[in-house]
Amino acid sequence: MSEENIFSKFKEHSIAEFFKKNRQMLGFSGKIRSMTTIIHEYVTNSLDACQEAGILPDIYIEIKEMDKDAGKYKIIVEDNGPGIPKTHLGKALGMMLAGTKFHRYIQQRGQQGIGASGCTMYAILTSGKGIHVQSRYKGKKIECDLSVDFKTNSPVMENVIETEDGASGVKIEAEFGELKYEKSNYGPYEYIRRTALVNPYLKITFKDPYGEVFIFQRSSEQIPKKPKEIQPHPLGITANDLLEMAKREKKFNRISSFLQNRFSRITSSKVNEVKELVKEVDFNKNPSEVVWEEAEKIAKAFKQVKWISPSPEGIEPIGGELIEKSFINVLNPEMVAVIERKPAIYRGGVPFIVETCIGYGGGISQTNKKGEIMRFANRSPLLFDSGGCAITETVKQIDWKRYGFKEFEEEPVVVVVNISSPHIPYVSAGKQSISNEEEISDEIKNAIMGASREIQKYLSGKRREKEKEGRKKVVERYVQQFAKDLSELAESGKPEDIESMLHRMIEKKYGE
Ligand SMILES: Nc1ncnc2c1ncn2[C@@H]1O[C@H](COP(=O)(O)OP(=O)(O)OP(=O)(O)O)[C@@H](O)[C@H]1O
Ligand SMILES: [Mg+2]
Repeated sequence: MSEENIFSKFKEHSIAEFFKKNRQMLGFSGKIRSMTTIIHEYVTNSLDACQEAGILPDIYIEIKEMDKDAGKYKIIVEDNGPGIPKTHLGKALGMMLAGTKFHRYIQQRGQQGIGASGCTMYAILTSGKGIHVQSRYKGKKIECDLSVDFKTNSPVMENVIETEDGASGVKIEAEFGELKYEKSNYGPYEYIRRTALVNPYLKITFKDPYGEVFIFQRSSEQIPKKPKEIQPHPLGITANDLLEMAKREKKFNRISSFLQNRFSRITSSKVNEVKELVKEVDFNKNPSEVVWEEAEKIAKAFKQVKWISPSPEGIEPIGGELIEKSFINVLNPEMVAVIERKPAIYRGGVPFIVETCIGYGGGISQTNKKGEIMRFANRSPLLFDSGGCAITETVKQIDWKRYGFKEFEEEPVVVVVNISSPHIPYVSAGKQSISNEEEISDEIKNAIMGASREIQKYLSGKRREKEKEGRKKVVERYVQQFAKDLSELAESGKPEDIESMLHRMIEKKYGE
């Protein structure tokens, strides 16, 4: 083929066409995983929306079997969140890479602006039609059929009905093919159970394809704090970031005031330190006049200055007390240990907090699940791609025998790890695995070791108790005979008196 012919095939394609061809990148690979992906995308959106609006979430999920052999199911997800206004409804659910989260440095479950539209895409690809949506927002209800025009990555809204309605929230109803419902570690039930575990303020109702209804009640009425936008820390900034931010700047008209107001931890004395390192840059000029070379120099100087770590403000972990309460509510273990680490940073400038909860015995022993790891990122369960995930890798490296366990896989123990950050370093767009950043792994390790030590103390105390109990039983077995023999030998004292005296002595030594 001549060069001219090759380029006659040159074409542009939209992001929607790209993901249509590469749906596995969004988690649509395999029938079971695809179903969990759909639940995950809708539930995370509902939780994010409720949290921003300061609403205690109440989510209803229903999965109806349409044709099991063909893998056809209808899925309904309804929330009591703020709803989506008519102006944004189409783009929110029918345009890829659109949303309220990607461009904000803020801790939310969603990051990319592709989850909901990805589900609409999957509905179209596997059932021939888009989704049906009802959105109640500020007294108005809008109901419509919604799909995506793949060529242009734009939403198509049809059969639009508008009415007045006092309630708020979003209800999505859609048919999907190439799915399979399974009550396994990878299915929707497990996803929902784990979501309930780390979101104590959530009430979630799930009706499975067999008509069975599971209600996960909230264990706390405490409305989660609104996520707060965080300013970037200078250590995480590249020349390109700096240049883009400077060009966008409208309010501050000098580089020094721009730096001081748009970044976390830059005080006027820190601006002076940076100035000293890049004397050739005029800090009085307008940020819009900054050129690449200057941005590069400032970003380099940022790496040389000693900064205070990023502020933990804006990072919202679950919190020790809540996680413990919730763990007991859902798993009812015999013993729980919780560790919440202090904020740390990875890759130079991104703040994060690791918390872990380890549960042992009790309800866990009854589930027959042994040595289970539950991974979470910003309170969303990660069920897939566990190999290579920083959490799994770190749990595997721990020497569990040191903490009184036989083997991790053989003990009734559940390890929960949640990582909170305005930017979780996911390995892929499917958002199921956290990249092995050294600082993150170290924090996970320290958290798990701390909680394991508490479990160890409890277990060794329990073991001592058991040994004492055993010795007491052995001695008690001989008391009656010994009292009788002693009274005969000494030819004095009643055997019953000697017996009760011996019992008192045993109680004193081995009793409580
Ligand atoms: N249930 C909902 N209630 C209110 N707003 C919603 C709801 N679902 C989606 N949205 C809006 O639609 C946008 C797009 O959602 P989508 O899931 O595609 O992306 P995202 O949540 O921003 O990021 P991610 O791709 O990581 O999930 C969201 O950013 C949010 O503004
Ligand atoms: Mg989302």
